[in-house]
Amino acid sequence: PDSEPVLARTREELRAALERQSGTRAVVMTMGALHEGHLDLVREARRRADHVVVTIFVNPLQFAAGEDLDAYPRDLEADLAKLASVGADVVFAPDPQVMYPQGEPAVRVDPGPVATRLEGLARPTHFGGVLTVVLKLLHLTRPDVALFGQKDAQQLALVRAMVRDLDLDVEIVGVPIRREPDGLAMSSRNAYLSPDERQAALALSAALRAAGAVASSGPGAVLAAARGVLAAQPGVEVDYAELVDPETMEPVPPGHGGRALLAVAARVGSTRLIDNAILDLQ
Ligand code: PAJ
Repeated sequence: PDSEPVLARTREELRAALERQSGTRAVVMTMGALHEGHLDLVREARRRADHVVVTIFVNPLQFAAGEDLDAYPRDLEADLAKLASVGADVVFAPDPQVMYPQGEPAVRVDPGPVATRLEGLARPTHFGGVLTVVLKLLHLTRPDVALFGQKDAQQLALVRAMVRDLDLDVEIVGVPIRREPDGLAMSSRNAYLSPDERQAALALSAALRAAGAVASSGPGAVLAAARGVLAAQPGVEVDYAELVDPETMEPVPPGHGGRALLAVAARVGSTRLIDNAILDLQ
């Protein structure tokens, strides 16, 4: 872990770089502005394959009008230095014209009903854009294994569903959420937070911890604990706090025992943050 990864900006450069690889390949897809959560995915990729490809692409297709496409942080030089330190072999960082030479694609992936819940309520076109670019990047990089963060639990569930339903020949690996020492889930969007907002944002992870502490008392107690912590924090506008099936994202029934995903989304100032935890409700 010290030599600079090969940077490919075009399909031709990517193809040439991949042709020089033999053995197994892992891919980590990102939108850049890399933090330790992203680097955990790369470290896990290193353990699972001979070669690691990281993609950096702020995908316009998954941003709706009025979202933060233009403001999204971009720093390729810093990203390349971080990726050198964890041993990525190839970085594919295409421009939008490389990924979408025709402009907006006419044919897209339909993510189905799972994409209509939770994040899909606030962002109805988001997951169609995500799965379309993930499918394109899988075809361009042809990995044996692709790694995704549990931070975006609904995205991970949808990628798994696409691989299953469209018979993609790739292993999908989920990687645990990386947090700051005070609990805040790492996110490129944390850079938008003012110091006061950064403090208020701790309510999301605090809500998950409070809920986890009463997991054995059942769904009602779990949701009350999470929503109570969020409601008590000024400056945090809750979008949702739901206890759902980790695959379908449907709310679990009142008497549910066993595993469930507690997913929260909230606006802190103008920044929308998400966090989640898998709970065992025995
Ligand atoms: P991005 O938000 O850059 O995240 C890239 C990958 O890093 C995703 O799999 C995400 O779940 C993971 N990740 C982000 N923060 C994490 C954290 N704190 N701990 C662990 N993993 C974390 O997700 C996307 O980009 C895009 O939607 C993409 C899949 C690249 C398609 O455009």
